[in-house]
Amino acid sequence: MNEQMRTIYYTATTLDGFLADEQDSLDWLLKQPLDDDASEFGYDTFFAGVGALVMGSTTYRWVVDRHEWPYTLPSWVLSSRPQPSVEGADIRFAQGDVAALHPELVAAADGKDVWVVGGGDLAGQFADAGLLDEVMVSIAPVTLGAGRPLLPRRYDLELLSTGRNAGFLCARYRLAGPLAT
Ligand SMILES: NC(=O)c1ccc[n+]([C@@H]2O[C@H](COP(=O)([O-])OP(=O)(O)OC[C@H]3O[C@@H](n4cnc5c(N)ncnc54)[C@H](OP(=O)(O)O)[C@@H]3O)[C@@H](O)[C@H]2O)c1
Repeated sequence: MNEQMRTIYYTATTLDGFLADEQDSLDWLLKQPLDDDASEFGYDTFFAGVGALVMGSTTYRWVVDRHEWPYTLPSWVLSSRPQPSVEGADIRFAQGDVAALHPELVAAADGKDVWVVGGGDLAGQFADAGLLDEVMVSIAPVTLGAGRPLLPRRYDLELLSTGRNAGFLCARYRLAGPLAT
């Protein structure tokens, strides 16, 4: 269990700052070679510190339309529309102000970190509410030119640590605050 629970946006991105292409394809990501990674950036290491997760409805549909639901942790999906449920999964649907939801996420995480899975605007909603502590990115050696944005906001970040996994450059940032002019 972490001493200091954090709310972390942990994701892969293209070099030009996209989570997915305009058709929500992740083919550019899934083709990338990966080494075993026991650093803080490795999925298994990161996920071991997570107690609850939250995602937007596009990300949710990407997962459930293609895969079995992979999580046993309490998970929240934000959507203003009815969404398909997954039998036996601990998935809670919510909408509106993420600041009102955050205490529930923290309580469910039970001393571990909250993972903001994505997308970028959802991470931005937590940032705007002053509730996003860190951004951890694995930057793929790919550009797409257009797609779903990583973090469509103007913020200053402080670089805390870096790593590498095969062709990915990995970086962990603290969200410092709205971009100072
Ligand atoms: N590269 C990676 O590792 C990675 C990581 C995460 C996601 N992805 C991909 O990136 C793409 C992200 O899609 P996206 O940009 O559309 O973001 P998203 O966050 O997955 O979905 C956005 C949608 O969530 C709903 N939503 C968000 N905040 C809400 C709120 N406060 N209240 C109610 N509803 C809310 C809205 O849809 P409705 O209200 O209409 O339902 C909104 O249009 C997906 O293709 C996903 O698979 C990639």
